[in-house]
Amino acid sequence: MDEEPASDVVRRERFSGGPARGFLSSMSEDERIFEADLAVDRAHVVMLAEQGIVSDDEAGEILAALEDVEEAGYDALPDGEDVHAAIETAVIERVGEIGGKMHTARSRNDEVATCIRYRLREDLVEAMRSSLALREALVEVAQEHVETTMPGYTHLQPAQPTTVAHYLLSYEQAVARDTERLVDAYDRVDRCPLGAAAFAGTPFDVDRERTAELLGFEAVHASGGSSDSSDDVLENSMDAVSSRDFLLETVGALSNLAITLSGFAEDLIGFSNRGYLELSDDYASTSSIMPQKKNPDTLELVRATAGDASAGLNGLSTTLKGLPRAYNRDLQRATPHAWETVDAVSEATEVTAGAIATAEWDEASLEAAAAEGFSTATGVADALAMQGLPFRTAHELVALASETGSDYAALEAASEELLGEPLDAHVPREAIETALDPAESVASRDSRGGPAPAAVRERIGTARTAIAADREAVDDLERTVADANAALAEEVRAYE
Ligand code: ARG
Repeated sequence: MDEEPASDVVRRERFSGGPARGFLSSMSEDERIFEADLAVDRAHVVMLAEQGIVSDDEAGEILAALEDVEEAGYDALPDGEDVHAAIETAVIERVGEIGGKMHTARSRNDEVATCIRYRLREDLVEAMRSSLALREALVEVAQEHVETTMPGYTHLQPAQPTTVAHYLLSYEQAVARDTERLVDAYDRVDRCPLGAAAFAGTPFDVDRERTAELLGFEAVHASGGSSDSSDDVLENSMDAVSSRDFLLETVGALSNLAITLSGFAEDLIGFSNRGYLELSDDYASTSSIMPQKKNPDTLELVRATAGDASAGLNGLSTTLKGLPRAYNRDLQRATPHAWETVDAVSEATEVTAGAIATAEWDEASLEAAAAEGFSTATGVADALAMQGLPFRTAHELVALASETGSDYAALEAASEELLGEPLDAHVPREAIETALDPAESVASRDSRGGPAPAAVRERIGTARTAIAADREAVDDLERTVADANAALAEEVRAYE
């Protein structure tokens, strides 16, 4: 007798094999949503029982089978087109025909969309936590270097002196917006498609609010919930199964973060090349041939992660573009772009946090470099302008001086040449000497958000407060899901 390949509940005999079998299958990607699918199955079965669509006994049998399937683990699942079909097959293998009631009033279309959202919440929390770890590291190191003068650059040329703290906080502020974007994305991920069935609803009296509640979908709409009539249920059943904008938005937020990281990594690679910074050995690598080498490989990999994120964004958007309503199998290939992106970016963010927390800044070489390239020129022009000279004239005077030097004598000669007057006719020599000192130059720039130590100390305080608030918000998100999981487990136990 011919050996028929094992068939799952969806494919049956007619669709049980063929050369495209592996091509159709998402089993290798679906391990990631195994736990999510079990939760979705449980919530759905509990709701079916509560609505009288299946009996309590039937629900009890199915729920016990799901327990058993979970214990056996993903690798023990029967062959299937995807995890949803495989779990259903496994349930039917255990309890027979009754198991076939599990899929009443739903489709794999609403099921998979729910599973992805369910799992992505966890991944987003991890991404948020890694962004918080990076912000914390940046603030900690900034705290130690409020007075460490360093060169600030534009066009990679020495521009104006700043401090290591001011520089690091510039990235803290950027990453804070990345956290914000991830939280925003979470809000729109956290909505439940379950109960939409294939796309067109169901004649069964399902309670969509109940399954959403059992699965912890509790989106708090910053927008006031105008896009859906209910906070946690994706209202229109066709949109519910078709839409993957939540993936695009998530990957978009992650791409932003990856791009922020890539610029930071690039800076740090340059700084270590110039001797301003030394990475700890844990975050450096060496050469297999050149014994003297200590290379910033981790930062180069961080810099490259923007490529992964960009690939994810591009893969996702081109897969989603032009898809007709409602469900199309293309969507199966959209999801892995999001998993790959979230993993790559979260890891790169954590590595960056570790690298910056453990790196040593060489204060002496930073301070020496801070004065290079007449970086105090703007401050001298400012000092002249503060004494009443029009800024444009002051700019011209300092520019003229810079052709010959960057000291008081050069400025004096320029004043004689341009204004026909000694420099101290306009501004006391002391004020100029002060402006020529990089540390004094930094201290003078005490405008809001500027590098003066006093302004930076204040900013460190507000950054710490914001990090603590964000951490609490993330804890809340995680707690909501954990509470729902505990409540669902309790409901399930009632059917034992
Ligand atoms: N594995 C599929 C996916 O990820 C599940 C949905 C299959 N639905 C269908 N109508 N073929 O999208």
